[in-house]
Amino acid sequence: PSYGTNVTGEGDARDGRKAENEKEDTLTNRQGHPITDNQNLTTVGNRGPSTLENYDYLEKISHFDRERIPERVVHARGAGAHGYFQSYGKVGDDPISKYTRAKVFTNAEKQTPVFVRFSTVIHGAHSPETQRDPRGFAVKFYTEDGNWDLVGNNLKIFFIRDAIKFPDVIHSLKPDPVTNRQDPKRIFDFMASTPESTHMITFLFSPWGIPANYRQMQGSGVNTYKWINEEGKAVLVKYHWEPLQGIKNLTQEEADHIQGQNFNHATQDLYEAIEKGDYPEWELYVQIMEDGEHPELDFDPLDDTKLWYKDQFPWYKVGKMTLNKNPENYFAEVEQAAFGTGVLVDGLDFSDDKMLQGRTFSYSDTQRYRVGPNYLQLPINAPKKHLGTNQRDGQMAYYVDNPPGSDPHINYEPSMMDGLKEAEEKGKAHEPYVSGEVKREAIEHKNDFGQAGETWRRFNDREKDDLISNLVSALSDADESIQKQMIKHMTEADSEYGQRLKEGIENAHTNMNDKQEDAVHDAERMGDVSDPY
Ligand code: HEM
Repeated sequence: PSYGTNVTGEGDARDGRKAENEKEDTLTNRQGHPITDNQNLTTVGNRGPSTLENYDYLEKISHFDRERIPERVVHARGAGAHGYFQSYGKVGDDPISKYTRAKVFTNAEKQTPVFVRFSTVIHGAHSPETQRDPRGFAVKFYTEDGNWDLVGNNLKIFFIRDAIKFPDVIHSLKPDPVTNRQDPKRIFDFMASTPESTHMITFLFSPWGIPANYRQMQGSGVNTYKWINEEGKAVLVKYHWEPLQGIKNLTQEEADHIQGQNFNHATQDLYEAIEKGDYPEWELYVQIMEDGEHPELDFDPLDDTKLWYKDQFPWYKVGKMTLNKNPENYFAEVEQAAFGTGVLVDGLDFSDDKMLQGRTFSYSDTQRYRVGPNYLQLPINAPKKHLGTNQRDGQMAYYVDNPPGSDPHINYEPSMMDGLKEAEEKGKAHEPYVSGEVKREAIEHKNDFGQAGETWRRFNDREKDDLISNLVSALSDADESIQKQMIKHMTEADSEYGQRLKEGIENAHTNMNDKQEDAVHDAERMGDVSDPY
């Protein structure tokens, strides 16, 4: 990686000079002092107390003491890979420039480098990869206009529609603060009082809640974004990744079996596929809707608990991503990678989706704490292009982001002498007109249950059986009031769905074992998925 000019202005400090008695592989400390004894503390006699002036030891152990940075508050467990994205340049029969001027899409000749991080959400950095949990699917595009991050999940919808509820939903899913165990009672206590989560719960407790690995799962931007064309005209868009390896989900039983043997199976699967040249690929699809409120729909297009059904809003294939290189250093590239929904380039924009707007503050905020204020100077996060900024200093400042030859005295703008200048406007700005009362109020068009019912009806028998079995098992210890509320929600979604959950819970103590066995399917059925979208 290129480290640019370091703060002393002298380029990379590591110029590789060796002292006379050193070889290529001579062990040194970080001060460049050769280490002659890496086996023994300095002690008074060989059995006596140790002394505290042993700099080599102090440096070694105190650096070790700081090897960990805080893990991500969510999505701590992950795996990553490098690759590239290439646009097809078209939306259906139209040139893609009809909708967006983003060069990553309009320039179909060019391969844009990407870094992808897949993850689970709730548990810690070394937790099993067989959890029933959404999977993160975060892509950093190093475009010629700077970085674009598409921070998505495998499932296309989410539990909540307002960012202010994110800490609550996550706390309910995280381990109990007293017992330190994830507890379905707490999860369903929250979900029973959050009717908009019914659709996500329907997906999460079906086999779609445990993708078989990272290569055979879909991805989705989940939130609604905008595309902006040369005239400054916007459309609403949703992004989806479709794996060319096919989709594979697991029943609980299948996941339990894998977890008993290997709790790193998804990381291993991704790494080994890439090592042997079996590069995973995904096609990127977009769904497009005219910008506006859409009162004719039975849902709000800014509500991330809703799907945009394919038959109404076709999926247009717009490009392909190939992952072809494993990280060389997990910590430097995967752990320190920082993605955020605010990281957009010209031609791509936010919508007023309240989740998206709330997320956009949260990512860079946590990264300034988790990685440090200069996290964007790390090679994995830095754009692969010209940089010119008057931002200075801070912890771990490594270089100055100014073009070579620029005047280091002028770290302000404007200047009549030299210094950085504002860029020229690109296309016509998209300037949406907004007016209204400032208030705290939910959206009108909630329709919390309609699509949950539709998803139930679109599931195949295997998915329905597994969903009921998993919900029954998770709800079996919950208070009766919570069970009743969940049955009520599922019944509102679809009467058969509610009825089956009700019967399942009532019979749980007698026939739960039989039901679980009914839901067990052998490995050859693993690819058996519906098309609920
Ligand atoms: C990671 C916040 C909703 C996908 C994170 C992180 C935070 C966060 C603080 C840790 C980032 C880091 O340490 O680098 C939020 C908030 C949300 C929200 C406040 C809602 C208001 C979502 C949704 C999705 C999502 C709806 C799916 C589209 C991800 C992914 C990561 C992540 C994939 C991991 C990125 C990586 O691999 O480093 N989120 N999130 N989040 N979030 Fe969200």
